[in-house]
Amino acid sequence: METTGQRLSVIGIGYLGLTHAVCMAEIGHDVLATDIDSEKVAKASAGEAFFYEPGLEPLLRKHLESGRLRFTSAIADAAEFAHVHFLCVGTPQGTDGRADLSYVRSALDSLAGYLSSGCLIVGKSTVPPGTARPLAERVRALAPAGDEVELAWSPEFLREGFAVADSLRPDRLVFGVSSERAVVRLREVFAPQLDNGVPGLFMDLETAELVKISANAFLAVKISYINAMAEVCEAVGADVGKLAQALGYDERIGSRFLGPGLGFGGGCLPKDLRSFRAAARELGVGSVADLLSIVDEINLGRRTRVIELARKSAGGSLAGKRVAVLGVAFKPGTDDVRDSPSLDVCGRMSEEGAIVTVHDPVAMPNAARANPVLRCAASVREAAEGADVVLHLTEWADYRAIDPAALGAVVSRRVLIDARCVLDAPSWREAGWDVTVLGQS
Ligand code: UDX
Repeated sequence: METTGQRLSVIGIGYLGLTHAVCMAEIGHDVLATDIDSEKVAKASAGEAFFYEPGLEPLLRKHLESGRLRFTSAIADAAEFAHVHFLCVGTPQGTDGRADLSYVRSALDSLAGYLSSGCLIVGKSTVPPGTARPLAERVRALAPAGDEVELAWSPEFLREGFAVADSLRPDRLVFGVSSERAVVRLREVFAPQLDNGVPGLFMDLETAELVKISANAFLAVKISYINAMAEVCEAVGADVGKLAQALGYDERIGSRFLGPGLGFGGGCLPKDLRSFRAAARELGVGSVADLLSIVDEINLGRRTRVIELARKSAGGSLAGKRVAVLGVAFKPGTDDVRDSPSLDVCGRMSEEGAIVTVHDPVAMPNAARANPVLRCAASVREAAEGADVVLHLTEWADYRAIDPAALGAVVSRRVLIDARCVLDAPSWREAGWDVTVLGQS
């Protein structure tokens, strides 16, 4: 079986597409990647990853040099070059929480017009169930090669901060297909991984679409479950950290994604949850729609709770109070602030009149762009100078190394709210801090 050196295209070089293009080159393929954003194309061609992702840029440069990876603004070049096209464009949140599929449709339409010989298109974007089948018909109708053009769907499960590792060594590869020909093609393309023991699961298009969106929903349910328990702990005087630890030892439950705190955010989990909810309603599966609504509500409720705690610590009003915020990325290990719980909390506190100064090891430029009102500090110490309250909102490892006594010397009041439940509260208390941890009474 031919295992390497296949000619692939990647359409859309955002987070998913750029990572996928680089990793397909790394496993031995010849890749031509394209995007309608010529600035992204220029940066990628110059070896610059335009977002923070550990390990991505060196691999990008390696394969620009090896010649296995090139970029173009012309989708026609991609259509002509490759036999397998990966569709990696975004599916942002549209009206009523529905996934906005306009980028998927327009990318497919542009590609289709140039497809004069048989090929396989593989959708990787996250879409609600029932999307791919009508798209396949649409592409066949538009492409000069007609029925010789096939559409498969292979969702991507990569996590920001671990995107390269997740793409090179995925837990599993999921393929939604509608023909044996597509199975053979996909087995060829992914042979380097399948031969290395990565499970390859072949299924119908709808199931493959569902795997992705229900996996993300499950993770969201798990996080909101422990955050709902945090509310119970606050009410009864228990400790959600200890509870989560004890639950996690049960192998049936497991400790991953059972971390209590400020809840989930980012470019995927919240939007996928809402898109799934909208799809479930349209499909008439009200139970799932209701479940996901509660999960979303619990998640957003944690943000409100932190603001209430900050307000209370400031004597009932945040107006004119100095708030230092540690961490603004939606999670550690990324500079992404899309639907960042911290950024949301910061924005709402500023609206109440608080003077919010944020620190983040890498996400400050993005935070400043998203909310220019926020003050940015170059160090934790600078952020905390004169603060009435310090909020720990994204759990970067650096913050666990803070010396509470030294920081205590620069703040106006030693008040800490740990919304991520990972700081060593006893040592902060020993240094004279009044510490509130979410999920503890
Ligand atoms: C997620 C999925 O994990 C990934 O499979 C999918 O492809 C894209 O969406 P990502 O957005 O990178 O990946 O973030 P993830 O690591 O899953 O974290 C999501 C959010 O949940 C973050 O805001 C994080 O802080 C929060 N989280 C995670 C918790 O609040 N508690 C936890 O225990 C784990």
